[in-house]
Amino acid sequence: MFLVTGATGTVGRAVIDRLLAADLPVRAITRRPESADLPTGVEVVRADLGDPGSLPAALAGVRRVFLSTSGTEIPEHDANLATAAAAAGVERLVKLSSGRAGDAAATDPIPSWHRAGEAAVRASGVDWTMVRPMGFMSNALHWSYSIRESATVRAPFGQGRIAVIDPFDIAVVSAAALTEPGHAGKVYTLTGPRALSPGEQTEVLAEIIGRPLRFEEISPEAAEADLLRFGVDPEMASAIMALRAMALESFTSVVHPTVAEVTGRSPRTFQEWALENKGQFTAA
Ligand SMILES: NC(=O)c1ccc[n+]([C@@H]2O[C@H](COP(=O)([O-])OP(=O)(O)OC[C@H]3O[C@@H](n4cnc5c(N)ncnc54)[C@H](OP(=O)(O)O)[C@@H]3O)[C@@H](O)[C@H]2O)c1
Repeated sequence: MFLVTGATGTVGRAVIDRLLAADLPVRAITRRPESADLPTGVEVVRADLGDPGSLPAALAGVRRVFLSTSGTEIPEHDANLATAAAAAGVERLVKLSSGRAGDAAATDPIPSWHRAGEAAVRASGVDWTMVRPMGFMSNALHWSYSIRESATVRAPFGQGRIAVIDPFDIAVVSAAALTEPGHAGKVYTLTGPRALSPGEQTEVLAEIIGRPLRFEEISPEAAEADLLRFGVDPEMASAIMALRAMALESFTSVVHPTVAEVTGRSPRTFQEWALENKGQFTAA
């Protein structure tokens, strides 16, 4: 049995699709099974990574785990799951980490939380693989409202380039690490095929949706105020802004060959991602 955490999230959901496509048995953890909307065939279990008492039942009979945690609770939730997985006899843990966990200069919160989570996974005694993606292409969905409403993308750090990756490719590598031999003890830094600035992503989106779009660089302060307005808590908003600022460093623009090395095919382009998600930018 394969257990997927973060099952209703961007990458966990895509990992579920890969495992189901290979006809493998999947159990998913969510705090809200009633609205999880997971595919038929997935065994859905209510559990909370912040509540260690809820984990043994979710892990009963499980051999391999995809571990996705978020936000300020990454270290605690990774440790809770890793401890419970070791106790349950799990053979293999694949942790969704962050590309910048491998950047020695990155001392800001999000990579630091992931390093602490990785340390807990390593200390569990269970075989592990760390999957460290750079920024997700799907972060562009945050622009969908302003694109639909005013044909505008607003973002800070306009000069910053990130070798963005399609979550599909993160899921394909993660599923390989869960199902194939040879991935134990490996740390996979994952990127897409090309580093792009927000302005360059805007140009691609304009071409795909067939409508001119304007890119407007906003200040980091204005971007943080937007996060707070959308209900992100202040600690997380500050952590996200520190992460975004790192797009100005060359680290995030390096293209890594890992997706092709693990899967045998090139990572998907931002054009491909945008075409698949075109409806999100054009719907009324
Ligand atoms: N976005 C990026 O550019 C980027 C880049 C590199 C790395 N990352 C890393 O990727 C991870 C986020 O992945 P994602 O975007 O796929 O996730 P996501 O879409 O943010 O989804 C969050 C998931 O976490 C689950 N969750 C939250 N709290 C939980 C709890 N207490 N117990 C059980 N489940 C809980 C939610 O499940 P329910 O609500 O169903 O319970 C949901 O499935 C983060 O660690 C982030 O640092 C992101």
